[in-house]
Amino acid sequence: MPSGAPVAPTVELNDGHRMPVLGLGTYSLDGDEGAAVIGTAIASGYRLLDTALNYGNEDAVGRAVRDADVPRDELFVTSKLPGRHHGYDEALRSIDETLGNLGLDHVDLYLIHWPNPSVDKFVDTWKAFVDLRDSGKVRSIGVSNFTPAHLDRIIDATGVAPAVNQVELHPYFPQAALRAVHAERGIVTESWSPLAKQSELMTEAPVLAAAKAHGVTPGQVVLRWHVQLGAVPVPKSGDADRQRENLDVFGFELTGDEVAAISGLERGRLWDGDPDTHEEM
Ligand SMILES: NC(=O)c1ccc[n+]([C@@H]2O[C@H](COP(=O)([O-])OP(=O)(O)OC[C@H]3O[C@@H](n4cnc5c(N)ncnc54)[C@H](OP(=O)(O)O)[C@@H]3O)[C@@H](O)[C@H]2O)c1
Repeated sequence: MPSGAPVAPTVELNDGHRMPVLGLGTYSLDGDEGAAVIGTAIASGYRLLDTALNYGNEDAVGRAVRDADVPRDELFVTSKLPGRHHGYDEALRSIDETLGNLGLDHVDLYLIHWPNPSVDKFVDTWKAFVDLRDSGKVRSIGVSNFTPAHLDRIIDATGVAPAVNQVELHPYFPQAALRAVHAERGIVTESWSPLAKQSELMTEAPVLAAAKAHGVTPGQVVLRWHVQLGAVPVPKSGDADRQRENLDVFGFELTGDEVAAISGLERGRLWDGDPDTHEEM
């Protein structure tokens, strides 16, 4: 392990495993360059890496993990099953494709990428996920982009609540109601596009005011806001300096008023990704 690299604290999942409270999003980091950039992130302290079969970069993530100067059991690799692989048998095949791409023998967290309700196979898919946990190929199981109704269906069918639900979450869409449902059901909230894909968010007054007050950057304020909500952000950066900046959010604390002011930026989803209607294959 590289000496002195700060690592994020961890949170306990409902199955007893632990997950870092901040990780690296890897969408668009691919090929040799992507593997190198992900390797740089691991060297600077990232332990959670978020990929998906549909990102087409599991090979780059796997290479970075295998080449890292950090033991595999200190890294937390997440991947996601695509919509076209919904179904019990399809899910059992899809994890083998993912592990083959990664060149690893297990993932730490495996998510159903989207519920795709019109296909109506996410319950069967979840049954396969429950069985996959016993196979050793997958440590923890979860979902992404699930609404409370979708969560109820898989929990009612299996008695197993997902460890994680990864959803769109940033100051423009703080997801307070969904986070409350997660808290009741013991599900950790994970935030995708936590920086709102670097929109004008970084120039919003409450973000700038908190950055000035704490002597940090706007990006650090936003990521700290996630951490204080109890949501796990996976910011993507292909830049070594911004990667380090994004991980360095454990040395200051926003006040309750600052958190509330940032949450007050709420205006709804930014990309039309309503899981009841948006589907991805
Ligand atoms: N489950 C799902 O359906 C789903 C959907 C979308 C995303 N995701 C996951 O979430 C991850 C992150 O989401 P995202 O990539 O859409 O967006 P994001 O992390 O919110 O924003 C990434 C953008 O912000 C820039 N950036 C990074 N750090 C910054 C900083 N400190 N200050 C200013 N700009 C900064 C990046 O540029 P540089 O690279 O140049 O730094 C990049 O353009 C994805 O990579 C993926 O793993 C999951």
